[in-house]
Amino acid sequence: MGKSGKKSKAAQRQRRARLPTGSVGEHGDAADSLPSSAYDLPEGQEESRGEAEGEQVEEDGSGNGDAVVVGKAKEMEPLSLSKFDLYQKSVQSPKGDISYLQKFFLMYVGERRPLHLQEDFCGTALLSSEWLRSDTRRTAIGLDLDLEALKWCLENNICKVGYDGYSRISLFHGNVLHPGRANLVKHMVQDPLRVSGLNKQNEHVDAGQLTTRAVHGILTCSTMEDATLPPRDIICAFNYSCCCLQKRPDLVNYFKQALAALSKKGGIFVMDLYGGTSSERQLQLQRKFTNFTYVWEQAEFDIINRRTRISLHFHLGKKRVLRNAFSYDWRLWSLSEIRDCLEEAGFQSVHFWMREMPNTEDASEVEEYNAKSDVKYEELSSFRQQDAWNAYVVGVTNLLSTRVGQKRD
Ligand SMILES: C[S@@+](CC[C@H](N)C(=O)[O-])C[C@H]1O[C@@H](n2cnc3c(N)ncnc32)[C@H](O)[C@@H]1O
Repeated sequence: MGKSGKKSKAAQRQRRARLPTGSVGEHGDAADSLPSSAYDLPEGQEESRGEAEGEQVEEDGSGNGDAVVVGKAKEMEPLSLSKFDLYQKSVQSPKGDISYLQKFFLMYVGERRPLHLQEDFCGTALLSSEWLRSDTRRTAIGLDLDLEALKWCLENNICKVGYDGYSRISLFHGNVLHPGRANLVKHMVQDPLRVSGLNKQNEHVDAGQLTTRAVHGILTCSTMEDATLPPRDIICAFNYSCCCLQKRPDLVNYFKQALAALSKKGGIFVMDLYGGTSSERQLQLQRKFTNFTYVWEQAEFDIINRRTRISLHFHLGKKRVLRNAFSYDWRLWSLSEIRDCLEEAGFQSVHFWMREMPNTEDASEVEEYNAKSDVKYEELSSFRQQDAWNAYVVGVTNLLSTRVGQKRD
């Protein structure tokens, strides 16, 4: 592949990368004020890319988060970024997301500051880490199936929060469909007493706790249902993560779990979704960074089951590629399906915040759109189909009665 393109069909057009939730810019840069998916550089600045002849390709996908060093060390300087680093730099923009979360909370709940966040499908929990950084009273809970990502978060994100970061975050390893069974994952150095109680096999039963196990310097202990956690003001599921749930009953069940964890004083559930005609066909998009290129690859779209396969690749130099660093088998839910499921789960109101994205077919439009990179989301009750759009969907609960009869799994 490359600009000359081994796949030259229109459906294989290479444009700027769709960025799962994050936005135009590496987290921490000025572009953070724009939180959602965006497209990036003008066409002319894209680098040639793909599996050119002689290119060294590393298949990852299931790999750990250790440094990715591919290519011939003698010929080129190795890039010592893990796939999680690359992902965070390419895809996420936590400050922008947080500013919208705060805005939604104030609009729909109000009367207090949101302090307690739960980030479902959290991956490396970058958003939670940023949440903690921005106010010392804040707490965060992260939940994900990927233990490597959680471990990487503890070692690389939480350590940057400050001295009390570890005490204000609880990361759980488990399924959002059964959050009560998810295991708390802790950093060993965080809890010297428990660490000193480990036997040679690194196994030990702690008073009042379930089995504690050391995994590569990380302890997994306790479960979410055993833990004492504050009621959540906000629960979020970003980067289209709800598309990981493919059955309607699972989606409704997940929304019920989220509702049950929200504060009785009122709270919000916020997720994001992408769509548009460009989302229902084969597509390849890319975005260039200083020392790597991020590629979003969309496989053919199955319109009966609304299934799509997304693969994220990183090109680390002219001859170095990390293919399938992340792959997702998604059901691309429609906005109305999401609303119906949230209402069925018991949310009192559902709000859509929409943003039109640059047209993937027309580079000049992309450039024009980039010039207006301060375009914000707006709350809408109807929206005409576009080539590409992004949405925040906000489910609101603010009555005690909505919680009656609901119990966490
Ligand atoms: C698209 S990534 C999003 C990561 C992160 N939220 C972000 O904003 O970039 C989806 C994440 O969901 C996790 N995941 C998928 N299905 C899950 C489930 N049923 N329960 C918990 N986590 C799940 C994956 O391990 C992955 O980390």
